[in-house]
Amino acid sequence: MLEYMTYLSRWPDYFHVAEGSVNKSMGYLNGESRTGGSWHGHVTAVTVATQYRRQQLAKKLMNLLEDISDKIDKAYFADLFVRASNTPAIKMSEKVMVLRILFGI
Ligand SMILES: CC(C)(COP(=O)(O)OP(=O)(O)OC[C@H]1O[C@@H](n2cnc3c(N)ncnc32)[C@H](O)[C@@H]1OP(=O)(O)O)[C@@H](O)C(=O)NCCC(=O)NCCS
Repeated sequence: MLEYMTYLSRWPDYFHVAEGSVNKSMGYLNGESRTGGSWHGHVTAVTVATQYRRQQLAKKLMNLLEDISDKIDKAYFADLFVRASNTPAIKMSEKVMVLRILFGI
């Protein structure tokens, strides 16, 4: 929890929650800007609640992060680390990320 609060205070532009009616959370994304090679945006976590999946919500959140990385931090690319077994996340990243580097770990 403390780790997330540190991230939030440091990179507030990289934290987004998608809310439905009556303040119900549908999904969230958090991330950071990083150096190391080239300046880039990094997705720490992106999650969409089961009942809201396959409605392009992760796509909107990922596009938002790429846009923020580009416009605010002039990033060269954005990346996301996912397990090699996480097929939905890999497919989603391949489809929606424009400035993409994806690592299977
Ligand atoms: C991965 C995840 C965020 C995708 O969220 P989503 O809102 O359902 O994704 P989108 O609707 O934006 O999907 C965009 C595209 O990604 C691909 N995709 C998404 N889920 C997929 C799945 N289960 N199988 C195959 N392709 C998938 C599709 O190409 C999809 O486009 P389409 O629906 O037009 O075919 C969601 O499954 C999730 O929360 N998983 C658990 C958390 C996780 O693993 N996060 C990633 C690591 S931090």
